Amino acid sequence: MRGIFANCVLAALLLAGTWADHHQNHHADFAFALYKNLNAKTQAGKNIFYSPLGISTALSMLSTGAGGDTHSQLFSTLGYGALNQSQVNEGFQHFFHMLGHSQENQKLDIGNAVVLRAGFNPSENFLKEIKDYYSGHIFNVDLIKPAEAVAEINAYISNKTHDRIKDMVKDLDQDMAMMLINYVYFKGEWEERFIKFLTRKADFHVDDTTKVQVDMMTGRGNYDIYNDADNHTTIIMVPYKGSTSMMIVLPDKGKMKEVEGYISKEHLRHWRNSVSQRSFLLYLPKFSISVAACLGDTLKELGITKAFEDNADFSGISDETMLKVSKVSHMASLSVTETGTEAAAVTIPQVMVVSALPHVVIDRPFLVFIMERSARSILFMGKISNPTLM
Ligand SMILES: *[C@@H]1O[C@H](CO)[C@@H](O)[C@H](O)[C@H]1NC(C)=O
Ligand SMILES: *[C@@H]1O[C@H](CO)[C@@H](O)[C@H](O)[C@H]1NC(C)=O
Ligand SMILES: *[C@@H]1O[C@H](CO)[C@@H](O)[C@H](O)[C@H]1NC(C)=O
Repeated sequence: MRGIFANCVLAALLLAGTWADHHQNHHADFAFALYKNLNAKTQAGKNIFYSPLGISTALSMLSTGAGGDTHSQLFSTLGYGALNQSQVNEGFQHFFHMLGHSQENQKLDIGNAVVLRAGFNPSENFLKEIKDYYSGHIFNVDLIKPAEAVAEINAYISNKTHDRIKDMVKDLDQDMAMMLINYVYFKGEWEERFIKFLTRKADFHVDDTTKVQVDMMTGRGNYDIYNDADNHTTIIMVPYKGSTSMMIVLPDKGKMKEVEGYISKEHLRHWRNSVSQRSFLLYLPKFSISVAACLGDTLKELGITKAFEDNADFSGISDETMLKVSKVSHMASLSVTETGTEAAAVTIPQVMVVSALPHVVIDRPFLVFIMERSARSILFMGKISNPTLM
C-alpha cells in the first residue's frame, strides 16, 4: 500500500506572562492521561509542556474522516463517550466562535490547517467539515520540491504562532498525503504585573543535589491561594487580564512524585473552589521554554492504535487511497516575564510596605496550568522542573 498518511503537527504556543484555565470535562481526563504518560517518558529534571486543547482539536479533526474502530478508539481515548461526531464538531465550532471574540490585553488564537500533497484529493465532505467546524485552512504543497514544501509549512506555522515556533517540520515523508496542523497561540498580560526592577538572581532547586540560577521575579498583589496540607501542596492562581489564569501547583519539598501521582480533574476543581484571596509577595522565575514531543507512542498507549496501522479506516478522507497516521508531533512553548511593559508606576514606599507581607517562593519544580475561565478549558499544562532549560 502506498500514499500513506496524515502527519499531525501541533504547534502550540505561549508568550509573555501567560496562562489559563480550561475546558470541558471530557477533555480533562484525556489531559491528565497524557500527563501521566508523558511524565513516565520524561527524564528527571526535564520539563513537560503541551496543549491538551490543541491535541484534542487535532485528533477530533482527524476523527471526522475516520470510520469503524479507528473512529471509536479516537472517541473513547478523547473521552467523548456517548457523543457523536456532529456533536463534537459543533462543540468545537461553538468553542472557536466564542474564543474568536478576542479581548484587549489577551490574545488567544486556535486554528487548524490541512496540508495536502499536490495530486491527492480528499473527499469534498471532509474538506467542508474541516472548514466549517474547525476553521481549518487548506493548502497544497508540491512534494517534488520537498525543501520548498517544508519551508512553506514552517512559514505558515511560524506566522500563526507569531514567530514563536519556527522550524517545526524538519522533513517530509515522500509518502505523505496530508498533514494536519493545529496551533494554539496565547499571549497574556498579568492582571498585576511583576515589579521589574525587583527581579534578582536566585537559586532554583531542580532536585536535592542540583540547583540552577534563575531570574526571580517579585509580584506583589492579591492572589488566590490555597494550602492543601493533606495533599502536600500549595495552589496559587495568578490571573491574566481577560479570561485566562495560570494555576501554579507547588508541591511541598520532596512531594512532587506524590502530587503527580494523584492529580486529576477532581483535584483541579477542588482547588479552584478552595482558593481564597490573600495579599502576599510571589517570587516566580522568569523563563522561556520550548518542548517538542512525538506523541505517537503515547497515543497508542492511551488506546489509539488502529489509526497508525496499515488497515486504518480513513475512508471519510479518501476511499481511493489507503491512509494511516505516520507521525504526530507536538510543540509548545511558554514564556513568562514580568509583563513586557515597564513597571513604571511602582514607587519605593509601596515596595517597602510590601516586604512586610508573607512570601511564597517558587524555587523548586512546580506544575503549571493555563486555563480559560469561561470554557473551563486547559489550554496548556506541564511541569517546570528546570526553568533554565530552553
Ligand atoms: C448525533 O446526536 C444528536 C443528539 O442525540 C442527534 O440529534 C443527531 O442526529 C446525531 N447525529 C448523527 C450524525 O448521528
Ligand atoms: C502572517 O501573515 C499575514 C498575511 O501575510 C500578515 O498580515 C501577518 O502580519 C503575519 N503575521 C505574523 C505574526 O507574521
Ligand atoms: C485532598 O484531596 C482530596 C481529593 O483527593 C480532597 O477530598 C481533600 O479535601 C483534599 N484535602 C484538603 C485539605 O483539601
